[in-house]
Amino acid sequence: MVEPRKNRRKTAKRGLPNEEGKLIETLPFNKSYMTGREKEYINAVYSQGHSCGDGPFTRKCNLWLENNIGCDKALLTTSCTSALEMAGILAGIGPGDEVIMPSFTFVSTANAFALRGAIPVFVDIRADTFNMDESKIEEAITHKTRAIVPVHYAGVGCDMDAIMATARHHELIVVEDAAQGLMAQVGDRPLGGIGHIGAMSFHESKNVICGEGGALFVNDSSFVSRAEVIWEKGTNRRDFNRGLVGKYTWIDIGSSFLPNDFTAAFLLAQLEMAEDITARRMSIWRSYQEALGELEELYEGVRLPRLPKGASHNAHIFHLLMPDNQTRDCLIRELYSAGVEATFHYIPLHSSPGGKKSGKVACKRETLPITDDVSGRIIRLPLWIGMESQVDMIVDIVKSSIKRLL
Ligand SMILES: Cc1ncc(COP(=O)(O)O)c(C=O)c1O
Repeated sequence: MVEPRKNRRKTAKRGLPNEEGKLIETLPFNKSYMTGREKEYINAVYSQGHSCGDGPFTRKCNLWLENNIGCDKALLTTSCTSALEMAGILAGIGPGDEVIMPSFTFVSTANAFALRGAIPVFVDIRADTFNMDESKIEEAITHKTRAIVPVHYAGVGCDMDAIMATARHHELIVVEDAAQGLMAQVGDRPLGGIGHIGAMSFHESKNVICGEGGALFVNDSSFVSRAEVIWEKGTNRRDFNRGLVGKYTWIDIGSSFLPNDFTAAFLLAQLEMAEDITARRMSIWRSYQEALGELEELYEGVRLPRLPKGASHNAHIFHLLMPDNQTRDCLIRELYSAGVEATFHYIPLHSSPGGKKSGKVACKRETLPITDDVSGRIIRLPLWIGMESQVDMIVDIVKSSIKRLL
C-alpha cells in the first residue's frame, strides 16, 4: 500500500548543519545550465505527437554533430555508455580479445568491451594530462589486441597522432571515449572525430546535456551502414524510412540505442548554445587558473591542470593535485565544512572489484604508479554557469586551507 502523502518523510534538504544545527545551503559541485529553449522544443515534440527515436529533433542533433565533429555519421544514443557498447559491436570485439585503455576512467569505458567477452587491458596515464600514456601502448599489444580506447580526460585531447600511428601499424581499431570532449580539439580536429569510432556523453554532469544521452561518431565510412542497423535494434528500419526497402526486418545484432525525440529536443536547445556554454565555462576555468596559479610556486606537490601544445580544451573540469592523499582528503573536508562541494575523481579500474574480475594490467605489471598517484591526489572544484560570483570565495577557502594544511 502506498503511504499517505502527509506521513511520508520529507526528502532530506541538501546542506550542512551550522552551529545551531540548522541546514545551510552548500554550493554544489555541479548544477545544470538551461538555455531557455528546451521547453519550446519539447513542446514542439508534444504538439507534433511523435516522440519515438529518429524523429525530426534527433535528425537535427545528428546533423549538428556531423557538421561540428566532422564525422561521416553521428547517431544520437541514450548515453555515452550505449555509444561505447555500439562501438564494441561495430569493432567486432569478441570473447578473449584484448582492448587497451587507461585505468583512470569511468567504468563504461571498460564495461562496453567486457560485455562482449573482451579483456580490458589497463595502461598507465601521463603525469601531465592524465590521459593514457601513448608511449606505453606498444608494449601492451599482444596477438589478442583488437582495439585501443583513448579517453580525453577533462576534454583535453590525447596524443592522437601517436595513437593512430600505433593503431595503423598493428591494424587495430581506435574508439575514442570523448565523453567529456564536446567543443574540444587536438589541433583542428574535434575530439571524437579522429579515431575510427568516437563516443560522447550528454549526461547531466557534462557541459552540454540532456539528462542522460550520448552519441556515436563513425569516422570510418565502412562502418556506417552496420552502425545504423545496430542503432535500430538490429533491423534495417533506417533503410525502410528512406524508402529503400518495402519492409524492415532483423539483419544483425543490435539494441534500442536511440533516445526518444523529447530528449533530442532538449539536447538541440543545448547544442545550439554550445559555443556560448563553453565560453562561459572557460571564463570560470581561467579565473581559477589565474587565482590559484601561485600555489604551484608556494607549495611543492601542488599542481594546476597542464595543457599540451595544440590541445584546445572545453573547460569541463578544473582540478588541482595536492602533494599527497591525506592533504587532498582534508581539503575536500575543509571545503565541505565551509559549504563547498569539491570532489575526487576515478577510483582506478584496475583496483576496482569489477576491473580485477574482468580486466588486467598491461605487461604483467602489478601497479600503474601514475594512475594510483593521481587518483589519490586529485581534487575537482565546482564549475558551472551561474557560480561566477562564488569563485573568489572558493579560491580564498582553498588558499587558506592549503596554508593551514601544508
Ligand atoms: C570517460 C567517460 N566515459 C564514459 C562515460 C559514460 O557516459 P554516460 O553517463 O553518458 O553513459 C563517462 C561519464 O561520466 C565518462 O566520464
